[in-house]
Amino acid sequence: MVEKITPRHFVKAKREGKRIVMITAYDAIQARIVDEAGVDGILVGDSLGMVIMGYKSTVPVTLNMIIHHLKAVLNASPKALIVADMPFLSYEVSKEEALRNAGKLIKLGADAVKIEGGSEIIDIVEAMTRIGIPVMGHIGLNPQRYLIHGLRLRGSNAEDAKKILEDAKALEKAGVFSIVIEFTVSEVAAEITKNLRIPTICIGSGPFCDGQILVFHDVVGLTTNPPPFARRYVNASEIFGEAIKRYVRDVRENLFPSKEEYYTMDVKEYEKFKKMIGST
Ligand code: KIV
Repeated sequence: MVEKITPRHFVKAKREGKRIVMITAYDAIQARIVDEAGVDGILVGDSLGMVIMGYKSTVPVTLNMIIHHLKAVLNASPKALIVADMPFLSYEVSKEEALRNAGKLIKLGADAVKIEGGSEIIDIVEAMTRIGIPVMGHIGLNPQRYLIHGLRLRGSNAEDAKKILEDAKALEKAGVFSIVIEFTVSEVAAEITKNLRIPTICIGSGPFCDGQILVFHDVVGLTTNPPPFARRYVNASEIFGEAIKRYVRDVRENLFPSKEEYYTMDVKEYEKFKKMIGST
């Protein structure tokens, strides 16, 4: 039996100096592909708002959308740690609501939840970790807050850098097992990584973290406007587009289906059938 990756493995990986690889996935096929490729963690991210639903931001994503895609990912039974994102307004209204919503994701089978924010959400994180819900933090750029803060690079002045480091330390103290650092200058990500015992997972924050995470659709080239820090390893839009164009041509020119791609009746049965319906 393959050994399931747990939050404890993430912390151990940091201790042993092993780099952690995470990626998002939103359905069973993506989860199977990334798991077979050997990632350590799969995030059912609220980025699904953009890459699946076509929204302009993650703000409209609901808990039910995360649940729907979490179930699909769980159906692939990945070895990788499955982290379910807590979407906007699923944890901010009250501690009780946050616990209930995080609990729903964990009861469904998520190995952990991820929650955006720093010092302002510490009591919520503490409440979760106290009752046994593994939490991944998310600091630096918090896309759920973009309506007020925009999508700016974080940590580029000393005050902001200090605030992000303090957020990271407060989250570690509150019991998170790992922290995503998004779109933050590399010096700050490096300082946080040096100061914490738990692993940091970077997205657009440089190479000095304990691990990296990217969005599946950016990696395989399915997004039209990926962030500048994402690396595209293949152009799936072009590959898929070419395949569909050939399919369209084959149907229009009667080249699909071929003899090997359909089924026929036994000759005797066919004759009997024609007689039955009076066909010539
Ligand atoms: O939803 C998501 O994909 C994320 C990553 C950007 C870390 O939160």
